[in-house]
Amino acid sequence: NQYDFGTVGLGVMGSNILLNVADHGFSAAGLDLSAEKAASFEAAAKPGQSVFGTTSPEEFAKSLKTPRAIMLLVPAGSLVDLAIENLLPFLEQGDIVIDGGNSYFTDTNRRFATLKEKGIHFFGMGISGGESGARFGPSMMPGGDKLAYERLRPIFEAIAAKVNGDPCVAYMGNGSAGNYVKMVHNGIEYAIMQLISETYDLLKRGLGADDADIQKLFADWNQGELQSFLIEITAEILKVKDEETGDLLVHVISDWARSKGTGKWTSQNAMDLQAPVPSIDSAVTMRNLSAHKQERLLASEILHSASQQEKIDIATIAQSLKDAYYFAMINVYAQGLAQLSIASKEYQYEIDLKEVTKIWRGGCIIRAACLENFRSAFASNPQLSNILLDKDIAKLVLDRQQAARKIAKLAIDKGIPAPVFLSSLSYFDGYRSAVLPTNLIQAQRDFFGAHLYERTDKEGFFHTIWE
Ligand code: 6PG
Repeated sequence: NQYDFGTVGLGVMGSNILLNVADHGFSAAGLDLSAEKAASFEAAAKPGQSVFGTTSPEEFAKSLKTPRAIMLLVPAGSLVDLAIENLLPFLEQGDIVIDGGNSYFTDTNRRFATLKEKGIHFFGMGISGGESGARFGPSMMPGGDKLAYERLRPIFEAIAAKVNGDPCVAYMGNGSAGNYVKMVHNGIEYAIMQLISETYDLLKRGLGADDADIQKLFADWNQGELQSFLIEITAEILKVKDEETGDLLVHVISDWARSKGTGKWTSQNAMDLQAPVPSIDSAVTMRNLSAHKQERLLASEILHSASQQEKIDIATIAQSLKDAYYFAMINVYAQGLAQLSIASKEYQYEIDLKEVTKIWRGGCIIRAACLENFRSAFASNPQLSNILLDKDIAKLVLDRQQAARKIAKLAIDKGIPAPVFLSSLSYFDGYRSAVLPTNLIQAQRDFFGAHLYERTDKEGFFHTIWE
């Protein structure tokens, strides 16, 4: 019983997290079905670091200090249940088991209840930052058993990414709050990735810009208020050539994107909660549309564009594009954060959005300079239900709404699909509407189905014989 911390799974995430743990002076043990992975994990440690890899659950459990601290880093779904089942015979009351994968939040609730009966502290923790984040500083979103988290806090704070010295890890809330926050993080991730792709498409296909100029534009954006991890990697991606063809690598990458489901879950659950997240929905939809390659090829022959062919000098719209991107991006975060606020009430998570935005400033995939603005909005008003209601954030979007309209029109005129640009603008326009045309929908429902309607001038439900 000598190791401080263990992971089940020595894949990319597991071994990198453990090496990160070891770098911070803790001893670390890993369990994997593959002896090769266990051995290469040990070999990757620096001389003098105390690490141990094994394929035996019993040996693994025996190697850990008690109460044990074990993180599961296996693919979400039934493999998490299997990992727990294999470990259980060797665990004792008081041990802590953390699920560090992208598990669906209701699975976490179920596992929490089952393990609680056995005296095991279980919590779900979203981890973001991919391979290099895991190795050198991820953003981590733990929720659930608070006391258990407090016990492991020194390890997590040591390995987390830091922003101005603040670790990018904090307790997110009750129950499955950690997994829920990570799920919405991924929904936002989908929408921002789609938004960047739309920007690329508008420039390349819509305006005929060349890749070198688009690359420069993203590199330039990354220097200022648009600074973000996803813009940064896009500028890097647009520099990489394919070794075989000499062409840019993105040009030879197929245009259908896979997904593991977290974006879809965000949209699905948002529908259940009546949380409007149209930009996330659009991003999921576009990944779905991308999958229908054969049909798109056929449609491209039949459905010709009636788009405007007029040539536009990119320099004349560069500032508007930048402002429109910023506008859409804020609206994407606004939707995701508002979903968290709604879910927090519905599921009694007690999520503190100041903490969420604080730990999203570094380490995670959606880290961006604007997170600092969001954090200060929640710091001055912890009850803020939507960041668009904060006067500083409102100013940021109001200053850019004309640009957003101009770019939306340009995308429409050019026949370039830009659903995240467009839905972000519609979300903004819908959200700021004191009166929506939903009164007409109430009337229609009552007309054809006698579903009754409510009135603005008196209480109660009413029905009209419309014909
Ligand atoms: C992260 C990522 C990570 C993973 C996504 C990819 O925060 O580090 O979100 O969790 O890369 O799950 O999601 P898709 O495969 O669904 O695009």
